[in-house]
Amino acid sequence: MKTVLILNGPNLNLLGTREPAVYGAQTLADVEALCSAVCNAHNLKLDFRQSNHEGVMIDAIHEAGRAQAAGTLAGVILNAGAYTHTSVALHDAIKGTGLTLIELHISNVHAREVFRHHSYVSPVAKAVMAGFGIKGYAYAIAALADMTNPV
Ligand code: DQA
Repeated sequence: MKTVLILNGPNLNLLGTREPAVYGAQTLADVEALCSAVCNAHNLKLDFRQSNHEGVMIDAIHEAGRAQAAGTLAGVILNAGAYTHTSVALHDAIKGTGLTLIELHISNVHAREVFRHHSYVSPVAKAVMAGFGIKGYAYAIAALADMTNPV
């Protein structure tokens, strides 16, 4: 059984209380429960993480790259939060590992402030999802499952 790493970046620990009109009322624990159910349904193991620290996220990407090379990881779903729009270091880490990675945003970043329109992650992502609310995590897991085991 392969693992899916779901990596959440800064401020996503505040889900539920942070701008609920934009991000919804559900907490990160609710997101994890949803992801766990969807991974079970797809015969995937879930590794669910959140960090407010860029370096911790980069270390997690490197670790995921090694796991993918070893054949134990299906891929990564990354909600890099605001680091999406600022981090050349995350871009380089993803590129350097050659990971299968889906970029995910709960909100439709393209319908928001201009500074959210540029992503350093998109050029090194396999696919991008934005604006589906927290259900986007479920859709992204299904997409990774299909990439791993196409129907
Ligand atoms: C986000 C969008 C980002 O612009 C923002 O900085 C976040 C969350 C989203 O999930 O919609 O922290 O990635």
